Amino acid sequence: MAAGWPGLGSALPLLQNPLEFLRAQYAELGPVFRQAAHDFEFQGFHVEQGNDVLVFMSSTHTDARYFVDPRRFELECFREPRNEHRRKFAFAPYGGGPHICLGAGMGEARLLLTVATLLRHLELECPADQLAYGAIFDPSLSLDDRFEVAVRGRPSLA
Ligand code: HEM
Repeated sequence: MAAGWPGLGSALPLLQNPLEFLRAQYAELGPVFRQAAHDFEFQGFHVEQGNDVLVFMSSTHTDARYFVDPRRFELECFREPRNEHRRKFAFAPYGGGPHICLGAGMGEARLLLTVATLLRHLELECPADQLAYGAIFDPSLSLDDRFEVAVRGRPSLA
């Protein structure tokens, strides 16, 4: 593939951190389902062994105990020396533990290649006054109607 797409190998790592940031802010992941292995207390609640537990893995993504300034578009937090997302369970788009997603590698590869392919063929521009937008569920997590983006084709890269 690299032979037909010069520069892809060096471009993919550059895309990785923006995609990590976007997934931290707009996690596609809902809760993962677990059963309590033993009784425990959590924030004043008593959970008994066998209780169903929903764990929102993305709750750490905006938690300042893990990410210094989680809402800031700051890619350094995903890079050496900070690597804030590398702390255990701080950033877990594929879940974690013994039931972590079996397709995580495939998911990462497809995500990177899909975005790289779009950016290779299309130029996307978001007007400055459109930068404030919200998230809605319709039927799954999406950007709200205020979000507009201009899409232009790029000249073909022979
Ligand atoms: C971007 C794409 C994907 C995302 C975000 C994703 C996310 C997840 C999450 C959050 C879980 C639950 C993990 C847990 O319970 O701790 C999961 C489980 C699983 N995923 Fe994915 N997944 C993706 C793609 C795929 C693909 C492409 C495959 C297969 C080719 C796959 C196969 C599985 C399987 C088999 C499980 C169950 C693992 C188990 O219970 O032991 N996933 N995935």
